[in-house]
Amino acid sequence: MYQLIYCSIARPGLYPADIKAILNTSRNFNWANDITGCLIYYNDEFIQILEGKKLTVKKMYEKIEQDDRHFSVIMMSEEEADERIFSNWSMA
Ligand SMILES: Cc1cc2nc3c(=O)[nH]c(=O)nc-3n(C[C@H](O)[C@H](O)[C@H](O)COP(=O)(O)O)c2cc1C
Repeated sequence: MYQLIYCSIARPGLYPADIKAILNTSRNFNWANDITGCLIYYNDEFIQILEGKKLTVKKMYEKIEQDDRHFSVIMMSEEEADERIFSNWSMA
């Protein structure tokens, strides 16, 4: 199991509806690809924890990095982990 944590800054003018849209896409895709985690949005910044198979998580992160709904994406940690923290959440 692999766990990756990054932070980023939300694009100015992002609405709650935009965050909802990100969550909806995330939950569908993550559910189908055995990714779990959580997305925190506070003070126009994101912190996200992604958990799953290493290759799947890395590919997901590469895609997320390119998303223009946020910028200054900074990897905070990535490591092998024994178990998931968010095993019941496709994206909390
Ligand atoms: C802050 C943030 C977090 C995101 N988290 C996820 C995620 O966990 N899972 C996911 O599938 N997409 C997530 N996305 C959306 C992806 O960047 C991308 O738009 C989505 O996977 C659809 O990509 P596609 O249209 O190229 O298939 C996130 C986007 C942002 C801005």
